[in-house]
Amino acid sequence: MHDAPTVTVIILAAGQGTRMKSSLAKVLHEVAGRSMVMWTVDAAREVTSDERIAVVVGHEADQVRAVLPPGIRTVTQAEQRGTGHAVLLALEEGLGADGVVIVVPGDTPQLRGSVLKQLADIKSNSEAGVVLLTASVDDPTGFGRIIRDPHGEVERIVEQRDASEAELAVNEVNASVYAFDAAALRGVIGDLGTDNAQQEMYLTDTVGFIREHGGVAAMVGDADDSLGINTLGQLAAVDAVMRMRINEELMEQGVKILDPARTYIDASASVAPGATIYPDVYLQGSTVIGEGAVVGPSVFAVDSEVGAGARVWYSVLREAVLGPRTEVGPYASVRKGTVTEEGSKIGTFVETKNTHLAEGAKVPHLSYMGDAQIGRNSNIGAGSITCNYDGFEKHETIIGEDVRVGSDTMLVAPVEVGDGAWTGAGSVISKNVSPGALAVERSDQKEIPDYAAKRRPKANDT
Ligand code: UD1
Ligand code: CA
Repeated sequence: MHDAPTVTVIILAAGQGTRMKSSLAKVLHEVAGRSMVMWTVDAAREVTSDERIAVVVGHEADQVRAVLPPGIRTVTQAEQRGTGHAVLLALEEGLGADGVVIVVPGDTPQLRGSVLKQLADIKSNSEAGVVLLTASVDDPTGFGRIIRDPHGEVERIVEQRDASEAELAVNEVNASVYAFDAAALRGVIGDLGTDNAQQEMYLTDTVGFIREHGGVAAMVGDADDSLGINTLGQLAAVDAVMRMRINEELMEQGVKILDPARTYIDASASVAPGATIYPDVYLQGSTVIGEGAVVGPSVFAVDSEVGAGARVWYSVLREAVLGPRTEVGPYASVRKGTVTEEGSKIGTFVETKNTHLAEGAKVPHLSYMGDAQIGRNSNIGAGSITCNYDGFEKHETIIGEDVRVGSDTMLVAPVEVGDGAWTGAGSVISKNVSPGALAVERSDQKEIPDYAAKRRPKANDT
């Protein structure tokens, strides 16, 4: 065994991705909540250090640079003159001076770091000038075909648009993932021409050239794990593959997922063992689900925390922090700045924003609580609303402990309701309520006797 060689990874991400029919650069499309190019950077980080990773950028270069971690360098390819041209520019900037040069497309987020490691190992332990990753597929349309000689050795790669009828029938395709010997790559890259259907410098042509000066080795991989995304259809398919990987890992750790195909957990979210996830749940951004929590069906949670043993169903959470054993839903909109403590409740058709519910506080039905503090064990009657906006500014509503807010109370902020106080149903509360008092604001009920009998003859007159 010789020393492990230095590994450089060049990620190709300059193309527009016209087949995506989208103005967003292809590599910025997200898969399981993370941009394609970042998945590839993370895989590269499993085989080398940040200073040996370079991303070739061109189309929407600034936007692509913006999603990359600070330590990852970029090479600018102003004009996209082909995959070979992209690699040439990186070599010209001094990358891959020696050792192994891995080239990966930025449109293959499902590629595992372990596969890159395997390719690099095969390269290091053989005399081959390049080791490439291939896959056998039912439908090879669009991919470069692997042309082998009668001995089964890889001879060259031919692109779809340049292939003959017989070559088009080959179903072993090029994944566009290579481990080159740096010297072999540098020896042939200058020979690439543009005499092909796209008039581009094809990196694939290096394979034929390297064969003339030594060996080419191939590793046949799993198509699901290695084929690039060119269309929104393929994006959806790879997204499903990546979500399934996330779900399988969570299930292995003890998260119960009832229907993994209908569970959409971003790579950035986390779920504690012992949680249960019903179908149609989306966990996005920095969302964290605590132990024993039951989430779903139908929950859309962004950058939110769900405490241990909480129960959330048919609801939307955005930048909310739910304490242990909080109950939410069905049909609640829990907005930014909502914080709940143990055993509280945000019930059916309730909206909350920038609101704190202390332990055991409950807002069970049809309410809007905005910019409010609700004290321990207080109960907000059905249909109550904080009138927090006077048309110019937002104001606060402060509700003490053990308060009983009657149904359909309008709390005109700024206003305070003292500990243990009550409000009468249907009241418009615009003045502070003293602790322990009942505040009622409504006119006395009148009664008109025998009204129905008087109405009847009149109605029949005509
Ligand atoms: C490429 C391969 C093809 C392989 C397929 C696998 C070539 C010529 N063909 O084809 O054999 O089967 O990938 O997915 O290499 N890029 C640049 N600069 C450029 C051109 C492309 O950075 O000038 C980047 C793109 O952003 C993309 C990657 O290289 O991330 C691949 O480019 P793409 O145009 O998708 O190549 P394919 O036609 O799919
Ligand atoms: Ca591609």
